[in-house]
Amino acid sequence: MKRVLVTGGAGFLGSHLCSALLAQGNDVLCVDNLFTGRKTHIAPLFREPYFEFLRHDITLPLYVEVDQIFNLACPASPVHYQFDPVQTTKTSVHGSINVLGLAKRVKARILQASTSEVYGDPEIHPQTEAYWGRVNPTGLRACYDEGKRCAETLFFDYHRQHGVEIKVVRIFNTYGPYMHPNDGRVVSNFIVQALTGAPITLYGDGMQTRSFCYVDDMITGFLRMMDSPPEFTGPLNLGNPAEFSMRELAETVLTLTGSSSKIVFRELPPDDPRQRQPDITLARDKLAWAPTVGLADGLRETIAYFRRLLAA
Ligand SMILES: NC(=O)c1ccc[n+]([C@@H]2O[C@H](COP(=O)([O-])OP(=O)(O)OC[C@H]3O[C@@H](n4cnc5c(N)ncnc54)[C@H](O)[C@@H]3O)[C@@H](O)[C@H]2O)c1
Repeated sequence: MKRVLVTGGAGFLGSHLCSALLAQGNDVLCVDNLFTGRKTHIAPLFREPYFEFLRHDITLPLYVEVDQIFNLACPASPVHYQFDPVQTTKTSVHGSINVLGLAKRVKARILQASTSEVYGDPEIHPQTEAYWGRVNPTGLRACYDEGKRCAETLFFDYHRQHGVEIKVVRIFNTYGPYMHPNDGRVVSNFIVQALTGAPITLYGDGMQTRSFCYVDDMITGFLRMMDSPPEFTGPLNLGNPAEFSMRELAETVLTLTGSSSKIVFRELPPDDPRQRQPDITLARDKLAWAPTVGLADGLRETIAYFRRLLAA
C-alpha cells in the first residue's frame, strides 16, 4: 500500500483521482484549501478507512510522510484564477516549492498537473511537447500560464539539482462530473444553459474548434504517467485530439439533453484561440495511452451529473 498525497484533491480532477487511487488500494491524503473544491466531491470517500482530508493551503509548507505526490492544487478556470491572480501565481510557484521540498525530504515521486496553457496562443497546431509556447507575460491570463510555466521550471530544477523523481503532464481541456457549474468553461456552460432552458451562447461564428477529454481517460493517463519508468519525466501532453467546433458541441448538448434552448451568437472575446489540439504521440508511445471515451458518451455522464446537481 502506497501513501499518496493529492493536492487539490477536492477539486474536479482531484476528487476523481482520489477515488481511483483508493480503488487501487492506496492510502490517500487529500489536501485542499476548498477555494474551488467542494467537500461534497469527496463526501463518499470519507467512509473509506484509507482516506484522509486536510484543509490546508499549499502556499504554506506541509510536513507529512508520503510515497507519492500528485500536485493538482490550482484554480483552473479563468473566472477562478483571475479572482485573486497573486494567490494563483503563489499557488503554482510557492506551492510547487513546498511540495517539491516535501518530495525531496521524504524521497517521494511527484507529478505536476501542468496545462496546455503553457503553450499560450500557439503558432503551431497541434502542439507537441517540443513547442515552447507563446505566452503574454503581463496579460490577465499570465498569473495562471506563467505560474504553471514557472512550476515546470521548478520541477525540472529540483530534478536536475536534487534528483527528485518528477513527472510533468500538460493537461488539455477535460470535462466530466464534478466540474464547476458556473466556471465559464464551455462544456459546463452549454449543459447548464440547455438544462435550464437558457439560450446557448456561441462566440463568433461558432466554428472555432476545441478538443475535450473525458475525466476517466485523463485519470488513467495520470496513473500511467506516475508509474512510468523513473527516467521518463515528461513534459507529456494528455488530452483528446478529436476536434469539435463549438457549434457541433452546442448541437450535441441540445440533442442529448432534449432541450429546446435557442443558440445565440455573441462577439468573439479577444485572445480566443481558433484551435487548441494536443499532439499525443508521446503519450501513445511511452504510456500506450489514448482516450477511449467518445464525446457523446462523456457528455451523457456529465449531463446526468448536472441534472442531479441542479435538482438538488
Ligand atoms: N480541468 C482541466 O481541463 C484542466 C486543464 C489543464 C490543467 N488543469 C490542471 O489540473 C489541476 C486540477 O484542475 P481542476 O479542473 O480539477 O480544477 P479545480 O479548480 O476543480 O481543482 C483545483 C483544486 O485545487 C484547490 N486549490 C486551489 N488553490 C489551492 C491552494 N493554494 N492550496 C490548496 N488547494 C488549492 C481548489 O480548492 C480545488 O479543489 C489544476 O492544477 C489545473 O491547473 C486542469
